[in-house]
Amino acid sequence: MKILVTGGAGFIGSHVVELLIQSGHETIIVDNFNSSKKEDVPSKVHLIEMDINAPQLEGIFAQEKPDIVIHMAAQVDVAISIQNPEHDAEQNILGTIRLINYCKKYNVQKIIFSSSCAVYGETADCSITESFPIKPLSYYGLSKYTSEMYIQLFSSLNQIPFTILRYANVYGPKQTSKGEGGVISTFFRKILNNEAPIIYGDGEQTRDFVYVKDVAMANVLAISKGTNEIFNIGSNTKTSVNELLKIMKSLASVDITPISKPERDGDIQHSQLDNTKAATILGWNPSYDLLNGLNDTFNYYKSKKI
Ligand SMILES: NC(=O)c1ccc[n+]([C@@H]2O[C@H](COP(=O)([O-])OP(=O)(O)OC[C@H]3O[C@@H](n4cnc5c(N)ncnc54)[C@H](O)[C@@H]3O)[C@@H](O)[C@H]2O)c1
Repeated sequence: MKILVTGGAGFIGSHVVELLIQSGHETIIVDNFNSSKKEDVPSKVHLIEMDINAPQLEGIFAQEKPDIVIHMAAQVDVAISIQNPEHDAEQNILGTIRLINYCKKYNVQKIIFSSSCAVYGETADCSITESFPIKPLSYYGLSKYTSEMYIQLFSSLNQIPFTILRYANVYGPKQTSKGEGGVISTFFRKILNNEAPIIYGDGEQTRDFVYVKDVAMANVLAISKGTNEIFNIGSNTKTSVNELLKIMKSLASVDITPISKPERDGDIQHSQLDNTKAATILGWNPSYDLLNGLNDTFNYYKSKKI
C-alpha cells in the first residue's frame, strides 16, 4: 500500500516509517522539521519537506494518491499549549481539518490518527478504559480530543474509515526532551552528563510508559484492523517518576540526587491505560516491558554520546 505519514520524521513517526518499509509498504513522509532532524529519517523513503498547513499539500495528495494517511504531525508540547493555545489549535485542530479534507477529495481509504491519554485529564489512581470521561487539563489534550471528534464526524459524513490511537507516555531511541514522554530522554541526557535531573512535584505522580517500537506496531496493525474504533495504546502498568529515576540510575550505575521543583500546570497526577481493547481487536500487546525498553534506550543514548 502507499502510505503517507505526516510527522514521519519525528520521534514516533520515524519508527513507524521504519516498520512500514520493513512491512513492504511504499511510504511518503510529509514533515516541516519543526521538531525533528533529517538524519533521523529512514533511508528508502520519499521525503517531502512541507507544513501540513501549506496549500501545496493538496498537490502532494493529487500526485501521490496515498491509500492510507497516518497523521502524526502535531504541536506536541503541553507547556507550549498552555502558553499559546491559539498556536496549538492552529497546528493540531486546523491542521487536522485541512488534512482530512484532502483525504476525502483524493479517496484515501483510511486515516490513522495519533491521539493521546492527555484527552482524559486527571484520572483516579487506576487503569482506565477508552470510555473513561474526557476532561483534558491542557489545550494540547483538548486539541487532540477536538481532532478526534472532527475525524469521527468527518468519517460518518463522508464514509472514510479511521482508527484513533490514544498513546500513553511513549519513550525510546531518538526522543528529544520535548513532548509528553520526554521525561525518560531528559533523565538519560542528564544522567549521562553527570547532571542532576529535575523532578516536578513530589515524584509520586505515575505514568504509563510504552516503548516506541510497540507504538509503531500498533499503527501498522491499524492499517487493516480496528476500523472506526478508538484504542488506548499503553502498557497498562504505572511507574512513579521516583521509581523510574531509581531504575534509570541503576542501569547507568550512577547515584545523582534530583532537584525538586513545584508541580507544573497541565501535568496529570496518574496515568495508566487499560489496553484490553487493543489486544482484542487489533491483536496488539506491548512486547517490551519497562526494563527492556529502558535498557535499549540507554544503549542508544550511550552510543550517541549525548
Ligand atoms: N511522545 C509521546 O509520548 C506521545 C504521547 C501521546 C501522543 N503523541 C502524539 O504522537 C505524535 C508524534 O509525536 P512525537 O512524540 O513523535 O513528536 P515529534 O515532535 O518528535 O514528532 C512530530 C513531528 O511532526 C512534525 N510537525 C509538527 N508540526 C508540523 C506541521 N505543521 N507540518 C508538518 N510537520 C509537522 C515535526 O517536525 C515532527 O517531525 C503527535 O501527534 C503526538 O501528539 C505522542
